[in-house]
Amino acid sequence: MRISDRLRKLKPSATLAVNAKAQELKAQGREVVSLAVGEPDFGTPDHVREAAKRAIDEGFTRYTPVPGIPDLRAAIAGYYGQFYGVCAKGENAIASCGGKQALYNLLMALLNPGDEVLIPAPYWVSYPAMVELADGVPVIVPTDPDSGFLVSVRDLESVCTPRTSVLLLNSPSNPTGGHYSQDALDEIARWARARGVFIISDEVYDRLVYEPAKPSTLSPMWQRHPESIAIVGALSKSFCMTGWRVGWTLAHPDLVKACAKIQGQSTSNVNSVAQKAAVAALTGPWTLVDEMKASFVRRRDLALEVIRSWPGVVCPKPDGAFYLFPVVEKYYTPDMPDSAALCTRLLEEAGVALVPGSAFGDDRCVRFSYAVADEVLVGALARVGKVLLGK
Ligand SMILES: Cc1ncc(COP(=O)(O)O)c(C=O)c1O
Repeated sequence: MRISDRLRKLKPSATLAVNAKAQELKAQGREVVSLAVGEPDFGTPDHVREAAKRAIDEGFTRYTPVPGIPDLRAAIAGYYGQFYGVCAKGENAIASCGGKQALYNLLMALLNPGDEVLIPAPYWVSYPAMVELADGVPVIVPTDPDSGFLVSVRDLESVCTPRTSVLLLNSPSNPTGGHYSQDALDEIARWARARGVFIISDEVYDRLVYEPAKPSTLSPMWQRHPESIAIVGALSKSFCMTGWRVGWTLAHPDLVKACAKIQGQSTSNVNSVAQKAAVAALTGPWTLVDEMKASFVRRRDLALEVIRSWPGVVCPKPDGAFYLFPVVEKYYTPDMPDSAALCTRLLEEAGVALVPGSAFGDDRCVRFSYAVADEVLVGALARVGKVLLGK
């Protein structure tokens, strides 16, 4: 079969691969619990579903403008006003098919061949692949559990070259749950500006930040310097709307137009019904988010206590998202030398699916998602513990 060279180099998404393997074992009748999930276990709020039904009944089922209906673009801009006091307009927003397409559009719009993109590791699985698809060069910047897996200006400075064009920053982070304070974000943004490095700030988990930490964002900095920052958001995680596929970019109008040009030649508008649902989600009410946060805090603490009780395991306490990313390398052996081998063993012997840290650029770790019911989480962790500790 003829397949392009570009595609031969591309790795398939590791998180999707783990879920597929878990499904395969389930189909064989094995009991498998997936802690590999990257989506909240809550349903889409009623008022959002109602808005979608209304859109269908009213026949709102045709093509829309590529960057989204004006109501949605205004609602995206309004979101940043409501939560972060940022003054944005509809022309600063483009709705895309999830945060994923927003990121892809941006990289295609910003990169020239050979441009270097700084990606702090552990990173979200798709970043390096997306950069490569856009003919850029991913430059991985390692971080450590001691710093909560957060990158510092010094780390960034040490890998910055004249070809460095973009920094891909993600807070709260998938896979670590690490969250930058507002001061830390601002310091990085000032460094990037001084170095002429454009920041793509992936804030798709921005509503899922746990007290005493406070939500942080580069949107106010964007407002001051719209030519050097773009913000990516999505309904997927914060609003339990993964399958609706609505995300967005907040950016300078020229960059929004560039993203719309790419989208217009590839996928066109986000599904029209989902756009109406998105307007309802973005304009509230927000009760589900609070409910979800309370559950996630409880589960994070519950899981953290168990994971930290395993000898030799180090796990920073995350302030956001719904993942834990413990260092488990102490359990590697010559027969089970890396995170992928450990995950395979845990899937086969404990019946628990996790994602190997290697997928996120850190082979010392594995990713646990706690977006599952409390009793499922407790049961799964007990089974993992048994296999790890050989009990
Ligand atoms: C850090 C991060 N960015 C972007 C995305 C993409 O989100 P969406 O499902 O809205 O495309 C994800 C999804 O897992 C993510 O974890």
